[in-house]
Amino acid sequence: MPKPSERMTALGPYLFSAIGAKIREMKAKGIEVLSLGIGDPDLPTPDPIVLELIRATTDTQDRDRFRYGSDWPLEEYPAAVAAYYRRRFGVELDHKTEVVPLIGSKEGIAHIALCYLDPGDVAVVPEPGYPVYKIGSLLSLARTYVLPLDPQRNWTPDLDAIPREVLAKAKLLWLNYPNNPTTACVDRDFFQKAVAFAKAHNLLICHDAAYIEITYDGYQAPSILQAEGAKEVAIEFGSLSKPFSMTGWRIGYAVGNSEAVRLLATVKDNIDSGVFRPIQKAAVTALGLEESQWQWALEIYRQRRDWAVEALQSSGIPVEKPKGTFYIWAPVPDGFGGSQEFAQFLLERAHVAVTPGAGYGPAGEGYFRLSLTYPDDHLKRALDQIVTALKSA
Ligand SMILES: Cc1ncc(COP(=O)(O)O)c(C=O)c1O
Repeated sequence: MPKPSERMTALGPYLFSAIGAKIREMKAKGIEVLSLGIGDPDLPTPDPIVLELIRATTDTQDRDRFRYGSDWPLEEYPAAVAAYYRRRFGVELDHKTEVVPLIGSKEGIAHIALCYLDPGDVAVVPEPGYPVYKIGSLLSLARTYVLPLDPQRNWTPDLDAIPREVLAKAKLLWLNYPNNPTTACVDRDFFQKAVAFAKAHNLLICHDAAYIEITYDGYQAPSILQAEGAKEVAIEFGSLSKPFSMTGWRIGYAVGNSEAVRLLATVKDNIDSGVFRPIQKAAVTALGLEESQWQWALEIYRQRRDWAVEALQSSGIPVEKPKGTFYIWAPVPDGFGGSQEFAQFLLERAHVAVTPGAGYGPAGEGYFRLSLTYPDDHLKRALDQIVTALKSA
């Protein structure tokens, strides 16, 4: 067999594959482990979306329904994304040139790097952060400049601290709010400043808006495209996975700068063949739902958030209720070493799996992340086990 590429050596297993392997190992020893590791909704996709999938799949009038989504494209889905942006954010999009359907936002996030990065080029990537931003650079043989998110600045980056020589080679600047894993949220003004910075330094901002709809307590997260002039320098990645509990369906979109959208569509045209048409039709239904038809899920996450924050606070872990995402990002309590050691402690003593902050890069060290996408009874048992383990430590 030939030697695998250097990219593969650098790539290694995806963060959550490693956690899953550890859980399976414990299970094999007869130990039940409760995972709070992964952000994958346990709630069902709302019925109207599922019913539309069934209808569209069995619609004998649509003879092209089983054919390649890219060769038999539907205009309805990009048009529905544009209508959703108008309704939710007051942003006008030309669905023909400023929207590209994705097979989940993850692939678009990885593929945009191929559109812009040559070896030697730089992507500026926040840390802690979703691992795929760095993976995109790695697959493009480009370099990543790590931009630490500062807890003192509400986990936002200090863009002015990026060295000049880095900016000279940088092409992409990644942002993600509401943020995974830190749960930080920003206002429109933050995006306005980022847009001005990108213009001044000839950067494309890639804003990952996967959690834009997962917000609480009256907070509505802004789209970067609400910032003036954003379309000149920004592309935003959106996902149906989180708000509509559709992770397994694999559908998302990228919107914004028409040149970036065109390049991303070109990469995808060359390597995938589009989204299954009935899934696109079901996604049209999703984006057109009344808020009450899907926001019930937010009430469930909010309740779980409150349980988790109260349980951690009762154990002396200082954590505040996040306004966005379905995660809790909390400091590792004193005396437990680093985040890996603490995650190991919780695995062995509480039989609960959490994600160590270091899994999101060295800047995540000292923190751990819990996900709220587990059934209420599972979450409550896991929280009880954490509290008991911490008491007896
Ligand atoms: C920050 C962030 N961006 C993007 C994604 C990708 O979501 P999807 O590919 O399901 O659209 C995730 C998934 O967990 C995420 O946490």
